[in-house]
Amino acid sequence: MTHPIIGWEHESPVPNHEFNSFLASRNGRLFYEDLDLAQLVHGGGQDQGLGRTLPSPLEIIYLPMLRQKVAELNSVFAEVAAEIGYAGRFHYTYASKANTAEEVVHAVLDAGANYEMSSQFDTVIVQTMQTSGVLSPERMVIANGFKPAGSGYAHSLVQLKRVHDNLIPVLEDLIELAPFIESGLAFDVGLRLKCYGHRLTSGVSGNHGTKTPVDAGNSRFGLQIADLWKAADIIAAAPSLNLKLLHAMIGSQITSEHEFVSALKPAIDLYGRMRQRHSEMSIFDFGGGVPAPMTLNFHFDYRLFARLLMTALSEACARYGVPVPDIMGEMGRYTATEHGAHFFRVLTVKNNGSELPWYILNGSIMTSFPDTWALGEHFIVLPLNHLDKPFQRVQLGGLTCDSDDVYPPKTSVSPLYLPVETKDLYIGFFSVGAYQEMLGGVKGAKHCMLPEAFELIIDRADDKEPYQFRLLPGQTSNDVLRILGYPVDES
Ligand SMILES: Cc1ncc(COP(=O)(O)O)c(C=O)c1O
Repeated sequence: MTHPIIGWEHESPVPNHEFNSFLASRNGRLFYEDLDLAQLVHGGGQDQGLGRTLPSPLEIIYLPMLRQKVAELNSVFAEVAAEIGYAGRFHYTYASKANTAEEVVHAVLDAGANYEMSSQFDTVIVQTMQTSGVLSPERMVIANGFKPAGSGYAHSLVQLKRVHDNLIPVLEDLIELAPFIESGLAFDVGLRLKCYGHRLTSGVSGNHGTKTPVDAGNSRFGLQIADLWKAADIIAAAPSLNLKLLHAMIGSQITSEHEFVSALKPAIDLYGRMRQRHSEMSIFDFGGGVPAPMTLNFHFDYRLFARLLMTALSEACARYGVPVPDIMGEMGRYTATEHGAHFFRVLTVKNNGSELPWYILNGSIMTSFPDTWALGEHFIVLPLNHLDKPFQRVQLGGLTCDSDDVYPPKTSVSPLYLPVETKDLYIGFFSVGAYQEMLGGVKGAKHCMLPEAFELIIDRADDKEPYQFRLLPGQTSNDVLRILGYPVDES
């Protein structure tokens, strides 16, 4: 297996070159689609409508990418369904936990996605999106997350049902049933099978309490098989509930299409068997989304995945003599990863006898992208300028005093090359739009009290139109000190 490719891997300058579908080097500068990135923070080149340069660190939110992701996967599934004659529909659903920022959720829903939520405050977001007109009544709202009887979340879902009828709580514990039964409201509900990981190879057998490989998986999410059947029977007996969906999440980090669908097969088989007994079921939800590119040598064939999934569902449903279901995926990472980027300036180069020169950045890597140190996750790193100059192998250091505030991650074998010329050198971390900000927190006081970056929201009506910009200010030192309880001089 080759290492993750996170940037340019040569000492020679980068010629005009496309790194991936949206990042390209042109005459020594890096472009995100048609946007000259160095121009935003350093100037030079043609003004792009902003009329000024912005301070760094700078976070970039590129909204057109979100719409592209929704449109692309929807077309993949529609085309494959037409090719193989699959009768079910595909329901693109946005897992908002990946990035719950208003502008992101708004853009994704505007692009036609359904909404997947995970906690109580999400119910407020649903209502806000309804009011702003991007969440029409027919759009499904899938409510995952723990919602035991008596919890604020269960209560809010019952309230939400009165204003958004197409709300589908996905139940993952028997104790979650009561609030929805007792509400007397006509709920469609889903049941979540216990997550069993992708190493499972044997099928699901038996439905009355024998310990199957699914049951043996170690996860706090979902129902074991016997309880899932029990819940289905309770739902069938409840006059106001309708079992619509089976949720089975393996996780989106499996980058082999065949392995992904094989891992789903026990759940697909279970769907077929349950559908025989519960004819109102109509959606197979493969839970999390599909893998997403965060490096330059990522490859996942979404078309092949869709074909394998539909084929597996068709075969299982034929085996049990039931119609094929609609397919749902709750795409978090896939939707949100590529729209987000974060720029830093190289403050200085430190040669202290370490293996490689340290390029010290004017912000923190570990607080901006917690997965770099928590999981050893890789993201794309490229210079915004000086791409036409020679490169050298380097390591990046963040501005905190933490030894983990480095990139590449300590466990990584991926080399990182950046220009030798560091005067006014700006670099970008790309494909960081999913989870990083939600894990690191928005605003607040962070490690070594480094302030939060300015945020630039970029949009355009279509790729012929000029860009439009909205700037959200970063934090001042007073903002941070105030949060920490210090008196600040507001004058
Ligand atoms: C229930 C559920 N659905 C969807 C997702 C989104 O997964 P991903 O971001 O990998 O697409 C998650 C992620 O944790 C999840 O827990």
